[in-house]
Amino acid sequence: TPRVFSGIKPSGGLTLGNYLGAIKRFVDMQAQDFETIYCVVDLHAITVWQDPKELTDATREVAAGFLAAGIDPSQSILFNQSQVAAHTELAWLFNCVARVGWMNRMTQFKDKAGKNAEQSSLGLYAYPSLMAADILLYHATHVPVGEDQKQHVELTRDIAAKFNHDFKAEDFFPQPEPIIEGPATRVMNLRDGTKKMSKSGESDMERINMTDDADKIAKKFKKAKTDPEPLPETLDGLKDRPEAKNLVDIYAGLSGLTNEQVIAEYAGAGWGKFKPALADLAVEKLAPISSEMSRLMNDKAEIDRILGEGADKAEAIAQPILDRAYDITGFLRSR
Ligand code: TYM
Repeated sequence: TPRVFSGIKPSGGLTLGNYLGAIKRFVDMQAQDFETIYCVVDLHAITVWQDPKELTDATREVAAGFLAAGIDPSQSILFNQSQVAAHTELAWLFNCVARVGWMNRMTQFKDKAGKNAEQSSLGLYAYPSLMAADILLYHATHVPVGEDQKQHVELTRDIAAKFNHDFKAEDFFPQPEPIIEGPATRVMNLRDGTKKMSKSGESDMERINMTDDADKIAKKFKKAKTDPEPLPETLDGLKDRPEAKNLVDIYAGLSGLTNEQVIAEYAGAGWGKFKPALADLAVEKLAPISSEMSRLMNDKAEIDRILGEGADKAEAIAQPILDRAYDITGFLRSR
């Protein structure tokens, strides 16, 4: 069976972008004919500073988000990355396969490092090589992600190909496919439709958090930036209207309708009608998830137990593949 791998960083709370671009898709793939492996990527989180206590909490919170949204530990493997040492070990091999020039082309590094690249951690720079290790350690074939991760999955393919080529280990690592589907693969900031919605944006009004209550959700959509025009009659009419397009995408993502169907339903409607409908829909979909998340967060032992069992299962798949990679590399086995 084809194998899915994907991950989310525990660097602050989960957003509606994480939900629509990733978690909801993970749940869909779990229900299909895939072996599914999902990871809370704590090693990736520390590429920028994380307060240790907050990191522990955020790791449990992301795990709770997965579980509350419908990831079932009896159908999927769910674990946190740092507990399976093979990730770090394979990442080192890939650090020696990937080229500096490849890393220099990564737009996420440029965005995150900004003007201050010299002061970024070396880990932030090598980040994509660890991500390639996450995926290839399981010989995963399908990687559901939001649009912003596409370049990293493409780099993963390049790393796999170069490893296979350099070591004449034809087809050892497969070529994983990025799976970027659905109407909300790039959810934008609610105050600026040209920026991505992210966990780390400076104002909380820019994003919907998975744990926001009904009042907050309603308020954030009410204050969301739009243009003065009503919704268009056709999808074409959303061109050059990034904020309007974003709210339609979000509606589609939450409802399971296509963008065309949303436009057909709300053709010509004003924001005074569309925004409250969107807020109601978001509350309807997110409230059960966030209440289940808070219930789970009160049972830390249960979350830790699930992650621990997941790590055992993940390691059972990963270790033999790492062993083969070590053999291919020519490491002497002294014990
Ligand atoms: P992270 O933690 O930034 O985001 C987790 C997932 O959520 C998606 N996402 C979005 N989708 C749509 N709109 C948005 N505004 C939005 N914001 C985030 C991301 O695309 C991602 O799918 N490098 C990854 C984590 C990672 C990973 C991996 C993913 C580490 N190893 C291996 C796949 C496979 C990241 O930083 O995701």
